[in-house]
Amino acid sequence: MNLKKIVGYEAVEWVKDGYVIGLGTGSTTHYFIEKLAEKIKNEELEVLGIPTSYQSFFLASDSGIPLTTLEEHDVDLAVDGADEVDPLFNLIKGGGAAHTMEKIIDQSADKFIVIVDDSKMVDVLGKFPIPVEVIPPALRIVKEQLMNMGGQPDLRMAERKDGPVISDNGNFIVDVKFDGISEPGKLEVMLNSIPGVVENGVFAGLADEVLVATTHGLNILKRV
Ligand code: A5P
Repeated sequence: MNLKKIVGYEAVEWVKDGYVIGLGTGSTTHYFIEKLAEKIKNEELEVLGIPTSYQSFFLASDSGIPLTTLEEHDVDLAVDGADEVDPLFNLIKGGGAAHTMEKIIDQSADKFIVIVDDSKMVDVLGKFPIPVEVIPPALRIVKEQLMNMGGQPDLRMAERKDGPVISDNGNFIVDVKFDGISEPGKLEVMLNSIPGVVENGVFAGLADEVLVATTHGLNILKRV
């Protein structure tokens, strides 16, 4: 059973005619974008997409989804994946290094829904290291400050390219391990207060709904 596909396909039910949709990044949103393209064609909808990454840009444009930008439109609905989700809908994102643009688009949306399989649900955030986007010349001093905050920073290395991962914005990604994150909102603000940090992958309190695919069916969790 492909749970990512199930939840990605199901999420198109949240799309209404005339919507501008924030298109998340990753293997789960891949299915959402694929199904959204089909829905737009079949139902002749006037829907526009705003991609959160080159990955979602290429997939959406290849699938024929009309695209726009944040300069031109507000976002009605953002649909995005996550690496971890806690019971209060705090998230860790950025496993694909796209969290900066994802956060800009997801937080601007009237409604932000997260689509995950149940392996992403945790009691406390922090098994997954927090991706932090860093301006390259600031790397050493940012790493020092992350260690002073109790984190273990690790520069993300590329596969099939020598050296580090370079984000869509031309920056490094440092993955930072913390032992159990008790206050995600505070940590999110503290990480972003380090000069040289562009954005971090903690999304505290942004999500409105979480759709969780399980082998027993789909759970729709709404913010209370
Ligand atoms: C992209 O940088 C991430 O924020 C993804 O949204 C997140 O890693 C979830 O990805 P998958 O859907 O591939 O698990």
